[in-house]
Amino acid sequence: MTFEVVTIFPEYFESPLKVGLLGKAIERGLIKVRLHNLRDFATDKHHTVDDKPFGGGEGMLFKPEPLFRALETLKKQPPKPRIVYLSPQGRLLTHEVARELASCERLVLLCGRYEGIDERIREHFVDDEISIGDYVLFGGEAAALVLIEVLSRLIPGVVGCEDSVAKDSFADGLLKHPQYTRPRNFLGYEVPEVLLSGNHAEIERWRRRKSLEVTFERRPELLKKARLTEEDRAYLKHLKRERLRLYLALVHYPVVNKEGRKIASSFTNLDLHDLARVARTYGLKAYYLVQPLSDQRAIMEELLAFWLSGPGARHNPDRAEALKLVRLRRSLEEVLQEIREAEGQPPVMLATDARPLRPALPYEEAGRIIRSGQPTLILLGTAWGLAPEVLERADHFLAPIPGALDDYNHLSVRSAASIIVDRLLREVV
Ligand SMILES: C[S@@+](CC[C@H](N)C(=O)[O-])C[C@H]1O[C@@H](n2cnc3c(N)ncnc32)[C@H](O)[C@@H]1O
Repeated sequence: MTFEVVTIFPEYFESPLKVGLLGKAIERGLIKVRLHNLRDFATDKHHTVDDKPFGGGEGMLFKPEPLFRALETLKKQPPKPRIVYLSPQGRLLTHEVARELASCERLVLLCGRYEGIDERIREHFVDDEISIGDYVLFGGEAAALVLIEVLSRLIPGVVGCEDSVAKDSFADGLLKHPQYTRPRNFLGYEVPEVLLSGNHAEIERWRRRKSLEVTFERRPELLKKARLTEEDRAYLKHLKRERLRLYLALVHYPVVNKEGRKIASSFTNLDLHDLARVARTYGLKAYYLVQPLSDQRAIMEELLAFWLSGPGARHNPDRAEALKLVRLRRSLEEVLQEIREAEGQPPVMLATDARPLRPALPYEEAGRIIRSGQPTLILLGTAWGLAPEVLERADHFLAPIPGALDDYNHLSVRSAASIIVDRLLREVV
């Protein structure tokens, strides 16, 4: 495979191309890297390659003419190259994209600098744009080096043990399992026993499971495309059951009314049913109703009895299955105590609020907490929302569900809860 790098800093590549497996691959002729100084394609005596952007604005841009000349010169030589511009706006470089590019015999890698390149070159003379991540570098050279390394690893013979490439993270869609080397005991930290057992089948099984665990915890979205066996799927199911320790509490007291005064709100039958069904569907461990008022509790108890052991249970057992998760408690304190006893640790409390008052924990982060197996309690308010004394106790705030077109986001607590739980568990369930 041949890489033709167009850059204003050919010296940037000097040492990276000499060292390690990349250096050896070049020495052995498995890959070729040719460096082309863009300035050699400028025609003025100062070798100018940049100019100010039309319309004003900061920075300089690569002019089209030297780039065009460089590309035309390289295109004339066989085999036909694919012209790749390294750009933060390009396709994200993943293992799959790398595999696709590795099938090309010859790549031209265009390294931008300053504010980038004239748009007409990008639009009419570039075949592909590749980004190495969602951040901005000074120039395309570091990105070109990353691309050269990634593609070289996929070329047969470059990495001595090809098996190790096949077992790398991403190769089969999963992250790699943890690895250990000597000493067996390092500062009191032991190597997992199974790796010392000599039982290769057991070791392979352990590694596969660890690979699934690491991927589930850190990059669950990869599991959707990974090549999984029936045994993998069964293990992932088991992992989800074990890790998912999510609870929901619908708080009737203390909440605030329209004037911001602390009140206890009354019970809503729809909340009881709909949230219990959400809890059962998404595998939550319990759905707490926090209500200290005894007359309100009496109504809830009567309804629960109807559905759990009365005619409702016989008429609609599926509903009983969901309502079994309901726990009627007098205070949030009681709820916390109960979860602490069941789980052996206090839950991470995630508060919800329709108003974007506080910095919110991104849903992705909250999902990571849940996947790590920490017990987590979602706090939902009734009336005009959770009272400040509850909000203050929360570990994190979840962002309000925003309106799609404007600021209107007045959802019922049932709708908000369904959306929140779905967003949290999208990657888990
Ligand atoms: C300072 S950047 C220009 C950024 C450009 N003004 C923008 O906002 O999209 C200069 C050059 O660095 C390279 N570059 C910067 N970040 C990159 C990334 N994440 N992946 C690939 N190339 C990158 C590109 O070649 C780019 O033309």
